[in-house]
Amino acid sequence: MSSYIIKGGNKLEGTVTISGSKNAALPIIAGCILNKGKTILYNVPNIHDTQMMYEIIKILGGTVQKKKNKVIIDTSKISKYEIPDILMHKMRSSVIIVGAILGRYRTATFSYPGGCDIGARPIDLHLKAFEKLGVSMSKSYGKITCECLEKGVIGNKIDLDFPSVGATENSILASVLAKGKTVITNAAREPEIVDLQEFLNKMGAKIEGAGTDKIEIEGVRELKEISYNIMPDRIETGTFLCLAAITGGKLQIEKTNPNHVTPVISKLEEAGCYIEVQKEKIKIEAPKRLKSIDIKTMPYPGFPTDMQSIMAATFTVAKGTTLIVENIFESRYKYVQELNKMGAKITVEGKSAIIRGTRKLYGANIKATDLRGGAALVLAGLVAKGITVIENIEYILRGYEGFDEKIRKLGGNIEITKAF
Ligand code: UD1
Repeated sequence: MSSYIIKGGNKLEGTVTISGSKNAALPIIAGCILNKGKTILYNVPNIHDTQMMYEIIKILGGTVQKKKNKVIIDTSKISKYEIPDILMHKMRSSVIIVGAILGRYRTATFSYPGGCDIGARPIDLHLKAFEKLGVSMSKSYGKITCECLEKGVIGNKIDLDFPSVGATENSILASVLAKGKTVITNAAREPEIVDLQEFLNKMGAKIEGAGTDKIEIEGVRELKEISYNIMPDRIETGTFLCLAAITGGKLQIEKTNPNHVTPVISKLEEAGCYIEVQKEKIKIEAPKRLKSIDIKTMPYPGFPTDMQSIMAATFTVAKGTTLIVENIFESRYKYVQELNKMGAKITVEGKSAIIRGTRKLYGANIKATDLRGGAALVLAGLVAKGITVIENIEYILRGYEGFDEKIRKLGGNIEITKAF
């Protein structure tokens, strides 16, 4: 297990380039399975989660060649349809590969997925959607085997009980090669779903409506080899906006899409930051001390749940009391006890966190509890007086490419140590 050692007190200043989106890359890598052949992906983030997806592709029989952020995935020799337990347990998004395997091979076996422990995170909506598409399910010894009742997936109407990002993506992936038309209503509207649609359409799929709550997929017989450039990571963008905000810094954030972080920008402006938006750039200048705000997480285009912990850390040192309401995941406040060890004054009551702003945080020995909660601790460490040691940073490495390196380039004092 590795740790970050952070000496707080430096303002972050300079220019930072945003990496490709983790949450867009994962379903797109899964989507490569749908075409029997090579796909070239650009701007793929070099993080543990993409690495894990490559492992799954390789175990199934595919090959992956990687050069920096360019990846060539060849799925022509895939011959297995079972996702190994260990990889399913490590990463929840591995479930996204099931839709693609089913779409191409009509059968898939897997166990319940793992990932960050931020709530119950069931996969009932995914399974219900597969059933609608003519897939039968049998469960034994913790494993689920899915099989198409007919010769392949059959297009149908899928009305999601909740606009789940993963269930929307899985329904799309399973329907691309289906017989007939699939219509998903109450679909999630996240930008990563638009990116998945653009990727699959470039491959030859016929999908319309991503970005709205109704997505229509006309099944096609075959796809073709393409190359595709993955969209920028909006949560990494939001994290760097908050890094500027909490340290009283000044940043230029490049290779991003400002439209994807509108709710984060408006909250930081409300708190007193000066923000200028250009085509693929955001400039932010933070005041000496932020003013408190209120936040409610919602499905896109609402305030993203993935930014909840990062905003909470940012407002621990603001003037006044900030109220956060978490509406997406039921236990996404595990990081709070770690922030409180640093002198933060946060109380959690059900879905709400009440943050009483304090002038100072103090360095402490703390542990990352999940990916975004871990990033929140890094923010706190960078303003705390003294040294902060964050253990279990494997969670953070799952989702941020070169996080410590990027922060160091901006003047932050952060080192990584490996414990054996
Ligand atoms: C994706 C993102 C994650 C983000 C989340 C919400 C990826 C790889 N991960 O996760 O970073 O925090 O969207 O924006 O893209 N639910 C069910 N049954 C299901 C599926 C989901 O009850 O079958 C519930 C979940 O427990 C949760 C809510 O729906 O309470 C939202 O989950 P979902 O949108 O599916 O999130 P993920 O796709 O897992």
